[in-house]
Amino acid sequence: MVKVAITGSTGLIGSRIIELLKGDFNFIELVWPKFDVTKKDDLWKTLKDLNFDIFFHLAGYTNVDDAEKNPGKKIAYKINVDGTKNVFEIVMKRRRKFIYVSTDFVFNGKNPPYYEESIPNPISYYAKTKYEGETVVKNYAMIVRFSYPYRAFFETKKDFVRGIKFKLEQKKQLNMVNNSLMTPTFIDDIAYAMKYLCKNYTPEIFHLVGGNSISPFSASKIIAKTFGLDQSLIHATTYEQYFKNRAKRPQYSEIKTKKNNFYRFKDFEQGLQIVKSQILNLK
Ligand SMILES: NC(=O)c1ccc[n+]([C@@H]2O[C@H](COP(=O)([O-])OP(=O)(O)OC[C@H]3O[C@@H](n4cnc5c(N)ncnc54)[C@H](OP(=O)(O)O)[C@@H]3O)[C@@H](O)[C@H]2O)c1
Repeated sequence: MVKVAITGSTGLIGSRIIELLKGDFNFIELVWPKFDVTKKDDLWKTLKDLNFDIFFHLAGYTNVDDAEKNPGKKIAYKINVDGTKNVFEIVMKRRRKFIYVSTDFVFNGKNPPYYEESIPNPISYYAKTKYEGETVVKNYAMIVRFSYPYRAFFETKKDFVRGIKFKLEQKKQLNMVNNSLMTPTFIDDIAYAMKYLCKNYTPEIFHLVGGNSISPFSASKIIAKTFGLDQSLIHATTYEQYFKNRAKRPQYSEIKTKKNNFYRFKDFEQGLQIVKSQILNLK
């Protein structure tokens, strides 16, 4: 079985990948704080004799708004850029394969759609650090870009679907942007696509993203409809208004792929139907 050393395995995306693919790969989980990507000297001790084929680097500082200000800025750089350099250098020395996880946020959102060969131009500090991480590994590693990932369960952190669902269940009024685009991606699809890519490794860029792009306003209406929640709680606002005092996200993040000819990603309504059935089956 292929041995995959994986960072960020306790996170939103990594933990689901392991749940779904643990029968296909031998995962070696490198977990913080025992394995801290910012502690260069300790990393070598752990990795110098470790038996692995692929290093799957999901660990990251992912708080987009906190990364815009200090001390978040410093930590984001330390983890996303220095941390990536630290593990990448060792993995190259060990002559193993490296997979770096990035984001649709590396694009500025002004001239969509964005394909694998589109030129990044990040507009938030978080995105800048993720793009700098890409430049560290480019040409020597596989880079996979994800976008607005969601899943049925994860206690530690709410993705945008469960965040909106929770607020609607609490009967909270929501202001959602109607003049922008996002590309929601079902994490189970990411896992199955990664199964293919780990078995067919090549040091190129891949966009592993949902089948359609929609506005956050439409996305929240679909969430309400799918889960039988009150759509009248959802109100339209503008991109300019919503992000006035927050880190900027790309306005039209219509991210697409030319390279994924191996796994079909669901569109948002289909993905949500599966999330709903996974929730119902567990009740
Ligand atoms: N979530 C998104 O919307 C999204 C979209 C596109 C791309 N991505 C990228 O996908 C990757 C995974 O995202 P996610 O949402 O699953 O992240 P997450 O839930 O925030 O998890 C981050 C993971 O990184 C670990 N970590 C943090 N600091 C570390 C350090 N210094 N050393 C080692 N491990 C450390 C965390 O460990 P602890 O649990 O112990 O803190 C956790 O396992 C990231 O690279 C992110 O940039 C995310």
